[in-house]
Amino acid sequence: MNYQEKPRFPKNFMWGASSAAWQVEGAVNEDGRTPAIIDLNSQTKKPYADNSVAADHYHHYLEDVSLMAECGLSSYRFSIAWSRIIPDESRRVNPKGIEFYNHLINALIANHITPIVTLYHYDMPCWVDEKKGGWSDRRVIDEFEYYCQVCFENFGDRVKYWLTLNEQNMQIVYGDWLGVSKGCSDWFKEKWKINHIMNLCHAKAVIACHRMVPGGKIGPVPGYVPIYPETCNPADQIAAMNAEELTQKVWNDLYVFREYNGFIRRYWKEYGIDPDIRPQDMELIQQAEIDFIALNCYRSNVAKAADKDSEIKELQLNKSGKKGEFVYPVYPGIYALAPNPYVQTNDWDWEIDPVAMRYMLRYINDHYHLPMMITENGYGAHEEIAEDGGVHDQQRIHFLRDQIFQVGLAIEDGCEVIAYNPWSFTDLLSTGNGMAKRYGLVFVNTTDAEVRDLKRIKKDSFDWYSKFIKSNGKAW
Ligand code: BG6
Repeated sequence: MNYQEKPRFPKNFMWGASSAAWQVEGAVNEDGRTPAIIDLNSQTKKPYADNSVAADHYHHYLEDVSLMAECGLSSYRFSIAWSRIIPDESRRVNPKGIEFYNHLINALIANHITPIVTLYHYDMPCWVDEKKGGWSDRRVIDEFEYYCQVCFENFGDRVKYWLTLNEQNMQIVYGDWLGVSKGCSDWFKEKWKINHIMNLCHAKAVIACHRMVPGGKIGPVPGYVPIYPETCNPADQIAAMNAEELTQKVWNDLYVFREYNGFIRRYWKEYGIDPDIRPQDMELIQQAEIDFIALNCYRSNVAKAADKDSEIKELQLNKSGKKGEFVYPVYPGIYALAPNPYVQTNDWDWEIDPVAMRYMLRYINDHYHLPMMITENGYGAHEEIAEDGGVHDQQRIHFLRDQIFQVGLAIEDGCEVIAYNPWSFTDLLSTGNGMAKRYGLVFVNTTDAEVRDLKRIKKDSFDWYSKFIKSNGKAW
């Protein structure tokens, strides 16, 4: 539908920003934090910086929160580093870790900023991996549940919005990129066993949150990439549906309906995959009723039919930041991905597609009828300080305005959306492109080659976003 007026946002809509511990905090060896697998993974992404300093939010959090308040944020989505809270297999709780997040949460609340906390954002502690077998071993379920309980017990009096596992679907789809496939000999099959263990961890967190946090709400955070068929050839539509299933729907159906859908059961049978679902697992999952779906959305995809005799080609992300490097995958008989001639791309070949945002919200609303919040959406760019001392990120302003407009249209369409938290507040470490790919409203003065003074500089997008959110979405 086309509406006569610009979209409006509900009165208590939360306007925020987003981050993740390992990408923003730095201080990896301080105050009792022990290493996480993602630390090691980030060290393999040379020539980009690893996460040892990142945005040094650990030492700058007060300055960062005061900038958030100046900007007018009403929410801030961040994650807790598991190994700061539980540094080793003795399960002792690290008081310094609790203290850091207590201070951060208290500073946010003092500034009327609602904390939205992710329990797990890719930073599996090395001790869980080494001593308990990591994601492939069911012992992780108890360890994760214990860690979640410690978080709920210590922070649940003030944190009422909780998120379980960040982008579980992407961790499985991009196992190598995010380090989850470490140690697996047959990832194609083993990933489904790991995924099932992650589902059990998600379920434990949901159940414990409802038991322990008065008024607490909890949901998953899928990474969502809308998928359009390349043409109106019916075969392309089925390919798009296959891609949808294998990259996101299987996960979302599980979270909401609390069972594996028919598509994935048939797929496992076809390929001789045993995800190791044991008695009582599904009873546990059945109890994990979520309150909302949080969504990360940056881009869209196009799918087309792939002949069953075609050659398999694996997806390859653009690592250089020079356009044209992304390799579209081909999965014979299932689907292939393809470029979209109707949209522009950024330097990493990510589609710039605001309509995808409306599509996603409509799709998720139609399928699952739950409140939604945007926990990530943003524009990654090469950026530096201009001669006048500012950072002029006009493209990010266009990106945010266009995306938010589509969030507004989805709300007008009848979707219940409660928050918009773009990635990211300050610049922080990209998952694979270090500081070269910046997302922040606030520039952090550091580079991949050298750690600089880490000074915070408000970008032009900070001013635009601030004015816009202070008007509750009227100052377009
Ligand atoms: C999301 C992740 O998928 O994408 C973030 O949750 C990540 O951790 C963000 O940083 C952007 O991706 P990238 O690779 O550009 O950092």
